[in-house]
Amino acid sequence: MKAIFPGSFDPITLGHLDIVNRGAKLFDCVIIALLNNPAKTPLFSIAERITMIKQETEKLPNIQIVEYDGLLAELAKKLTVNCILRGVRNEKDCSYEIAMAQANKTLNNNLDTIFMVSNPNNSYMSASLLKEIANAGYPNFDDSVLDNWVSSAVKQMLKNKYSK
Ligand code: PNS
Repeated sequence: MKAIFPGSFDPITLGHLDIVNRGAKLFDCVIIALLNNPAKTPLFSIAERITMIKQETEKLPNIQIVEYDGLLAELAKKLTVNCILRGVRNEKDCSYEIAMAQANKTLNNNLDTIFMVSNPNNSYMSASLLKEIANAGYPNFDDSVLDNWVSSAVKQMLKNKYSK
């Protein structure tokens, strides 16, 4: 069975990668779907995010990466995939994720969402909080703290953005 793991991945965190790694053991194929949302101004371009996702997942044989805009439910139809994989970190995530899963089910009745509970170490960290810390911290902080949340390659990319 295939699953789509959708997100903004701006940037991809160790929390995302934990779900991808665990998902890759459960599903025959995990399709990482990167949302290209013109309404948002991301820190990293689509090309930068694809590069980092490729680097971070290169050891996993059953991963595909796609970029999408528009509705996730339509992407699932196009790819003939009936399962969405999402990580949930805490109660706040649950209410948002359940609403999104129900909306996606309404849009595409074949589509089910499977939730995977995050590793406790990742329960409070988000890409937004990470960017806030990096933005406020660079250029003069001990960025080893970021090793808790991103790979060294992604940390370097954050440093390049915020040290300018
Ligand atoms: O990483 P994020 O930002 O939490 O991921 C949210 C995402 C990209 C999965 C969601 O916003 C999405 O799929 N957007 C595409 C548009 C869409 O289908 N919206 C309706 C979802 S119910």
